[in-house]
Amino acid sequence: VQVPSVDVGSPPAADPCAEASVQESLAAGDDAATIAGFGGGEAFRAAVVAGNAPCISLSDPARVWVVVNKARPLDPADYAPGALADVPLQMTTASGQVRTDVATAVGDMANAAIEAGVGRLGANNGYRSYGLQVTTYESHVRDQGQAGADAGSARPGHSEHQTGLAVDVVACGLGCGGLDGFGGTTQSDWVAAHAWEYGFIVRYEDGGSGVTGYAPEPWHLRYVGRDLAAAYQAGGFHTLEEFFGLPAAPDYLP
Ligand code: DAL
Ligand code: ZN
Repeated sequence: VQVPSVDVGSPPAADPCAEASVQESLAAGDDAATIAGFGGGEAFRAAVVAGNAPCISLSDPARVWVVVNKARPLDPADYAPGALADVPLQMTTASGQVRTDVATAVGDMANAAIEAGVGRLGANNGYRSYGLQVTTYESHVRDQGQAGADAGSARPGHSEHQTGLAVDVVACGLGCGGLDGFGGTTQSDWVAAHAWEYGFIVRYEDGGSGVTGYAPEPWHLRYVGRDLAAAYQAGGFHTLEEFFGLPAAPDYLP
């Protein structure tokens, strides 16, 4: 069995935020180069957790390292990402765009799934604006009540979908299935094992609800870029909160 190698990068910088390469990459909005300047994904994570990365904000919604959860709303609440592109997969809703880098990555992932023989991936929702999250969340509240809605749908201003970094994938044959039908498919098993190779993590895994505040969503993929996804996989992490040493966020703040 050939195990994909993980690029551990160069030796971690003692004071990464003081490095010219890091400052330039941050200013240029080049997240991959910034992470490389830290010495790779694991070095970046370790620096953030150790408090040795004051130039890195986990609240910046334009960065691949942003952490959005019930305790960490988007700032500003009505944030909208820059360039969006069509998700190059069959869509089952009209919310068919994500950030351009995410569109490329999800297309590469879907092609690899076909090549691996596990079948076709489609997509349900990509980017959702603040306004669309309002109607999405409200419809869940109408159908399930507030507690049920809060277990499966973020309140407006609290969804990763609003960053353009999240995409919900579905399994397709002749047609495409729904979100609830995704778990247990060959596509879902493959995504759980391989999404990291394309820069995605399964954000709401089985067993993670006490930290994430959401019921498992094997379909909800969050783009963090290949370096952070590789570090996440290699470190055996199951929530982004634990990856970055953040508190659990099972509930909204009072
Ligand atoms: N379904 C996820 C939690 C969202 O609404 O962002
Ligand atoms: Zn989702």
